[in-house]
Amino acid sequence: MGSTCFHTSAAPSSCLLSSTKRSYGLHDLKVGELGQLKVPISRTRKVSKVLAFYGLRSPPYKLDALEPHMSNRTLEMHWGELHRGYVEGLNKQLERNDILYGYTMDELIKATYNNGNPFPEFNNAAQVWNHNFFWDSMHPRGGNMPTLGLLDQIEKDFGSFTNFKEKFVDASLSLFGSGWVWLVLRKREKRLEVVKTCNAINPIVWDDIPIINLDMWEHAYYFDYKNDRAAYVKNFLDHLVSWDVATARIIRAEAFVNLGEPKIPIA
Ligand SMILES: [Fe+2]
Repeated sequence: MGSTCFHTSAAPSSCLLSSTKRSYGLHDLKVGELGQLKVPISRTRKVSKVLAFYGLRSPPYKLDALEPHMSNRTLEMHWGELHRGYVEGLNKQLERNDILYGYTMDELIKATYNNGNPFPEFNNAAQVWNHNFFWDSMHPRGGNMPTLGLLDQIEKDFGSFTNFKEKFVDASLSLFGSGWVWLVLRKREKRLEVVKTCNAINPIVWDDIPIINLDMWEHAYYFDYKNDRAAYVKNFLDHLVSWDVATARIIRAEAFVNLGEPKIPIA
């Protein structure tokens, strides 16, 4: 299947509340703690003020752990500044739009995509999701080949792992402007496909299930590769992509898509 570029731009819902005794920063909390912090402004006034809706998640490794393929300098700027900026921008927007309060991030992205007529919150929301997913898609000892069911599915849908890699590289290098390249599971077709999306668009808006993604915005590679996007994509596939994470994702996706023969329980 050819890759496709979709036009436009896009994780757990949480709410941090303010306190007079302590100012809680986004980094004071771990994932899973978000949404549980309710601090009254004073002992006498049981009133809480929403300070922020979403927190900045850290990559699951140190910022220098992907060197030499992705530098500490890139991660400091990319995660520490740009990704943080998307989180802060989204929280500021949500302060002014309480209709969107309480959504999970997936729900927020789908709602603000608004059938291709995105609300102002969409770009920040999608970029927070996309970057969280991107950091999780890599590992310091990544690369090599997928195994087990994921490899079987790739071979079934692309002919071979080599063909898949060629398609992924082609999609990355032919993406015009900024965007993302994805390996997704198409629910209805029950097959894997490579797609590219422009700006911040995330394939969940069409109900696809992302398996891996690659950031093709210039900020993702320029420090380390200048304009050599081919070297960036090759190093991602050869040394960074986490097929273990991708395997876990496709196993989870099978709760929604049966990729094998129908399994009829025996009564
Ligand atoms: Fe990025």
